[in-house]
Parts: sequence; C-alpha cells; structure tokens
Amino acid sequence: MGLDDRDALRTLRDAVDPALGSEELIRTFYTNWFAADPSVRDLFPPDMAQQRGVFAQVMTWLFDELVAQRADEPVAFLAQLGRDHRKYGVTQQHYDSMQKALLGTLRGHLVDSWNDRLAEATHDAVALFIGVMRGAADAEKEPPYCDGTVIEHIRATRDVSVVRLQLDRPLSYHPGQYVTVQVPQWPRRWRYLSPSIPADPSGAIEFHIRSVTGGMVSTAIVGETTPGDRWRLSNPHGGLHVARDDGDVLMVAGSTGLAPLRALIMDLTRYGVNPRVHLFFGGRYPSDLYDLKTLWQIASQNPWLSVTPVSEYNVDSPWARDYPDVTPPRGLHVRQTGMLPDVVTSYGNWGDRQILICGGPEMVQVTKAALIAKGAPPERIQHDPLSN
Ligand SMILES: Cc1cc2nc3c(=O)[nH]c(=O)nc-3n(C[C@H](O)[C@H](O)[C@H](O)COP(=O)(O)OP(=O)(O)OC[C@H]3O[C@@H](n4cnc5c(N)ncnc54)[C@H](O)[C@@H]3O)c2cc1C
Ligand code: HEM
Repeated sequence: MGLDDRDALRTLRDAVDPALGSEELIRTFYTNWFAADPSVRDLFPPDMAQQRGVFAQVMTWLFDELVAQRADEPVAFLAQLGRDHRKYGVTQQHYDSMQKALLGTLRGHLVDSWNDRLAEATHDAVALFIGVMRGAADAEKEPPYCDGTVIEHIRATRDVSVVRLQLDRPLSYHPGQYVTVQVPQWPRRWRYLSPSIPADPSGAIEFHIRSVTGGMVSTAIVGETTPGDRWRLSNPHGGLHVARDDGDVLMVAGSTGLAPLRALIMDLTRYGVNPRVHLFFGGRYPSDLYDLKTLWQIASQNPWLSVTPVSEYNVDSPWARDYPDVTPPRGLHVRQTGMLPDVVTSYGNWGDRQILICGGPEMVQVTKAALIAKGAPPERIQHDPLSN
C-alpha cells in the first residue's frame, strides 16, 4: 500500500493541517529535530513562528496531492525546494536527522491510530519528500547563491532606497522575476526583492526597497546600507510576464512595486513594435513617485508606453525637500490625485488588457478586487505571491 493508501495519507494530511490544529505537532517536530541534531538550530532564525506556519502549509498541500494520487507537481516543487535549500547550508546529514525526527514525531503524535499501514504510508511519504529534495540538491551543479558588492545607495525618498550592486558573476533571471536576498545587517533573514533592471551580462543589478513600518530587514537596508556591503542573492522565482502577442497591457505599481514592472518595460524596449503599455505609478505624496524621471525618459523614446503618476495627496510633506526632486519634464500624463485602485478603475474596466499589479499585499488585493468588480477577467490579472 504505502503511497497508494489514501486513508492513511488522509490521516497524515489532517495531522499536519494548521486549520485542524497542527501547531503542537509541528512545534514538537522542530523541538525533537533541534534536540537530536543541534547543528540544525543555527540555520533557522530565532523566532520560528513563521517557519512553523509555512512548513505546516506546505506539508498539508503535499499530503493533499498524495491523497489525490497526484505526484508530478509535488515532485517538481520538492526538487526546486531542495535546490533552493542549498543556500541555507543544508547538508545530507541534516536530511538524515530530519527524516528521523519527522517520522518519530508523527508516530508519537498518531500513536492511538498507529498500525502497519499507517507506518508504511508515513515512512514512504517522508522518504519521498526528503528523497526528492536531497536528490535534486545533490544533482544541482550551479552554485547555490551569488554574492555581490553594493556600489551605490541612493536615498530616493524618506522611505525608499535604490541600491545598485556589482555581482561577482552575472545572475540569470527573467525580467519581472524576484530573487531572495540576504544582507549583512540580518544574516539568515532572506527576503524577496525584485530586480528593477533586466539581467545584465556584466553582473550589474539594482533593487528598489521601501522600508515598511516595523520591518526588520527593509528598515536596515534603507537606514544602513553602505557601498562595500556584501549581499547574497539566490534563486529567481516568479512568472510575471508580458506576452507581446496577447494584446495591450495595464500595469499598476504601488511604490517599489514598480521594480519588476520597470524591468519588464526595459526589456520591451529591445523591440521596435510592442503592445501598448499603460503604467499607473502610485505613492502617498507626489514626492513618493521616486522614479518618474526614468519613466519619462523611456516613454519619450517608446511611444507604446504611457505613464500616469498617481498620489493620494496633492501636496508634498515638508520632508520632501530633503530628497531628490522627482518632478519629470513635461510629457507624461497629468498626475492624478486619489487612491490607486479608484484612479485606475475610473478609466474603465481594462477588460481587454493583460493586467499586472505590483506593490504591498494590501494594495495588490484591493486593486485586483476593484478591477474584477469593474469587469476585468481574473485570469488576465497577474501578481506575485502576497507573502514571503
Ligand atoms: C514576491 C515578492 C517580491 C518583493 N519585492 C520587493 C521589492 O522589490 N522591494 C521591496 O521593497 N519589497 C519587496 N518585497 C517585500 C519584501 O520581501 C519584504 O517582505 C519587506 O521588505 C518587509 O521585510 P522586513 O524584514 O522589513 O519586514 P518583516 O520584519 O518581515 O515584517 C514586518 C511587518 O511588515 C509587514 N510587511 C511585510 N511586507 C510588507 C509590504 N511589502 N508592505 C507593507 N507591509 C509589509 C509584515 O506583515 C509585518 O507586519 C517583495 C515581497 C514579495 C513576496
Ligand atoms: C520535507 C523537507 C522540507 C520541507 C518540506 C521544507 C520546507 C521549507 C519551506 C517551505 C521553507 C520556507 C522558505 C523557503 O521556501 O525557502 C523552508 C525554509 C527553511 N528550511 Fe526547510 N524544508 C525541508 C527540509 C529542510 C531541511 C532538511 C533543512 C536543514 C536544516 C531545512 C532548513 C530550512 C531553513 C534554514 C529555512 C529558512 C528559514 C528562514 O530563514 O526563515 N529545511 N523550508
């Protein structure tokens, strides 16, 4: 039976499901694992709450797929996860100790219903998950990460920085993708950031970072980054894209959500003919629209691009004069005042467009809902995952 035993797999699925109260099981698993193999503990951040939540969700999805007797997607996902996990310094010994700890914890938790069938399914599922991850990690020849040196840090506004790096080797990614980044101020706290330029053969790369209130890594990047800092980058992910043969495009960017859309727009400039692209770029104050001059430059040479600046408030706050002037020369659409979703939908439902939305999770959700409410087809709307 093993992986064919759907009843046993369902028991395992329910045991790890956070919605059914798996918190205690997952906590016990990590405690057991760290006790059995102390070398693992230091790889994780001190606060494990988020990790426990993500791990429980992933395990629930994996068991769901096995219950439905689907293996292709889980295997592809686990192989990618295994390759990605190399950046944490995961070794074969860690996989051994995890396998033992996970099996032991599941057995202890399900002791009342434990029997040969459940034992076999548990053994086979855990062996599959870990076997695929370690096998893919082992087979991967590319280095797990790529280091680079900060060469310029521009404080663009009160809370947005533009950081440019020279990588030790070029990093390959598609325009619109994001990468994981570790900065020296917060070792082991990897965060997603989206390069704001297409992959560069000489290894130049640029990021736009907004410090979020109470945010650990983003506030450190904006407040403390200096030239010479060494950053570590890994694993491009994500599928934001423009299909050049699939009609005109609407892009909606909130603050540094501009970065991946700008990379896509820059990539389009390689072609003479493109679909029309209308970009709404929003911020709270007019001075938050930190990159209008670059957008003006691109639009002035590429007639397929229109840019509408949007700010919530019509006037600037006093801190604006401490930062570079963002006002572009004449040529872009007149700046609109209002909330981004309201302004975008006041132009129509954009139902015939490919729609790409980028920004903070709330802005993306609200803008998407507003567009759908106006009649935009959900399947035409793209955005990145809303959390790390
Ligand atoms: C696919 C993807 C791509 C991303 N690309 C970029 C990028 O190019 N530039 C960039 O500046 N950020 C980007 N982010 C956000 C970034 O990865 C971090 O989540 C963000 O910088 C906060 O990290 P932190 O350590 O400062 O905050 P944390 O300490 O992790 O969180 C602190 C608090 O801030 C909240 N928070 C987290 N992210 C946001 C957010 N974006 N807006 C508002 N509140 C938030 C959390 O819910 C939490 O309450 C991206 C996120 C994803 C998922
Ligand atoms: C069944 C096997 C495993 C699964 C399903 C799994 C799943 C995950 C997931 C989903 C994440 C979230 C972030 C990311 O995608 O990188 C993560 C992070 C992580 N995992 Fe695993 N993992 C497994 C095995 C391991 C092993 C063997 C190690 C060895 C030490 C490990 C160490 C880590 C570390 C250090 C992090 C980063 C935590 C952080 O920085 O917040 N994982 N894991």
